[in-house]
Amino acid sequence: MENSVAGEALSRQASFSASVAELMKIRARGKVPLAYVRTYGCQQNVADGEKIKGLLAQMGFSFTDGPEEADFILFNTCAVREHAEDRVFGNVGALKNIKRRHPSVVIAVCGCMTEQEQVAERLKTSFPFVNIVFGTHMIHRLPEMLYQTLVESKRIFLRGGEEQEMIEGLPVQRDGTARAWVTAMYGCDNFCSYCIVPYVRGRERSRQPEAILEEVRGLVEAGYKEITLLGQNVNSYGKNLPVEEGKTPVNFAGLLRQLDGLDGDFRLRFMTSHPKDASQELFDVMAGSRHIPHYIHLPFQSGSNRVLSEMNRRYDREKYLSLIRYARKVMPDISFTSDVIVGFPGETYEEFQETLSLVREVGFTNLFTFIYSPREGTKAAKMEDPVSHQEKTKWFAELLRVQEECASAICQKMVGQTLRVLVEDRSEKSGLLSGRTASSHIVEFPGPDELVGQFVKVRVTRAKSFILYGERIS
Ligand code: SAH
Ligand code: SF4
Ligand code: F3S
Repeated sequence: MENSVAGEALSRQASFSASVAELMKIRARGKVPLAYVRTYGCQQNVADGEKIKGLLAQMGFSFTDGPEEADFILFNTCAVREHAEDRVFGNVGALKNIKRRHPSVVIAVCGCMTEQEQVAERLKTSFPFVNIVFGTHMIHRLPEMLYQTLVESKRIFLRGGEEQEMIEGLPVQRDGTARAWVTAMYGCDNFCSYCIVPYVRGRERSRQPEAILEEVRGLVEAGYKEITLLGQNVNSYGKNLPVEEGKTPVNFAGLLRQLDGLDGDFRLRFMTSHPKDASQELFDVMAGSRHIPHYIHLPFQSGSNRVLSEMNRRYDREKYLSLIRYARKVMPDISFTSDVIVGFPGETYEEFQETLSLVREVGFTNLFTFIYSPREGTKAAKMEDPVSHQEKTKWFAELLRVQEECASAICQKMVGQTLRVLVEDRSEKSGLLSGRTASSHIVEFPGPDELVGQFVKVRVTRAKSFILYGERIS
């Protein structure tokens, strides 16, 4: 719901926005001002990137994939692993040459990295050609920041956790026409010991159910075929929402029930679910729904109870497996994907074997696998970490082999089935159309470009590793 403070903040930004549009008409190198926006990291960041693009479009910008011709360059960054950060520093560093050739270009860095003190400091001192640095809570103030840069030519650093209110009503320039992201909640309160997200995204805040319902309804009416609700832990949805007198509080299962009531031909997905909060009620709602595929991304991180406890995940292996069993009981065709960390500080090879046995026991459609990366300021970064990176890389390869075996066994069983596929794009590698089943399996098949963004039925004729191949039957 829009409150008056947010309303005021937005109308203040609207006048900056109009001024920037005028200023950029003169400053643009081409006919219209061009922006290059590059987003790293998770879907939450992608959703933020779409809001930023919405604001830029309001300021008269068109978009380009080439930073060289852009008048405004923005990197929307991710801090979750060191490797991600190194890439960003490398790419931002390379902008120095563009700035030398085109001194009028405005360069900005935002997103999760900038919420870390040491990163902001490094950007300030070692990257003097970066004009604007702003944090994850400051997106709505982009017009004001651009205005100040253009008029006063000073560097802007606007970050920090002070302003944590949610701003509704920002324009959104969506990247796709068939799939859309809708934020259900912001932030994370879980503080898993390895994770930087709670520090850079702040505390959990849920959007009002009416605002989410309205957004999803609008997307369905606009023809979107797949809508994904986002949150670092969607199962915490509603915990801090004020409840009006006489009304019952809404939890995530309740929100899903409301959204499932919408008519139309669309899939409703959500991520991410934390096993400590995933409830039987959630699986019951999924089992009885019209729009929610029988699929869940449920990160388990480790199969060892000692490691899970050190990670501060607050569930154990047995609880995780009992959730899987219940979900299978109410939805025998359900498919699972998950996240895993290899080489958490102090993890032994025997404990890692417990991760492998869990992978075998569950049978995941897909796994997102990561080697542990220490993040400054987190609890795990201070723990003893005796196993070498080289050794962890070997474990990692072993995990990939086991997962590959399991995934390809699942895929082989699907040969001969006819599945409903939402076509996403054309695979560059195979030249075939590529889409996803309800279970989130990738299916490739021959067909014309017009099918992108449509549901089609495909009969699976063969499977290779985790990809299904088939032919269209309608
Ligand atoms: N909120 C989500 C995850 C967000 S981060 C959840 O709890 O499931 C996405 C994934 O990155 C995590 O699930 C974890 O597997 C991985 N990850 C997070 N911090 C990491 C770190 N420091 N090193 C390696 N992997 C990490
Ligand atoms: Fe990170 Fe844990 Fe929060 Fe996920 S639930 S974002 S892993 S702290
Ligand atoms: Fe990365 Fe921030 Fe997402 S740290 S994973 S972009 S919430």
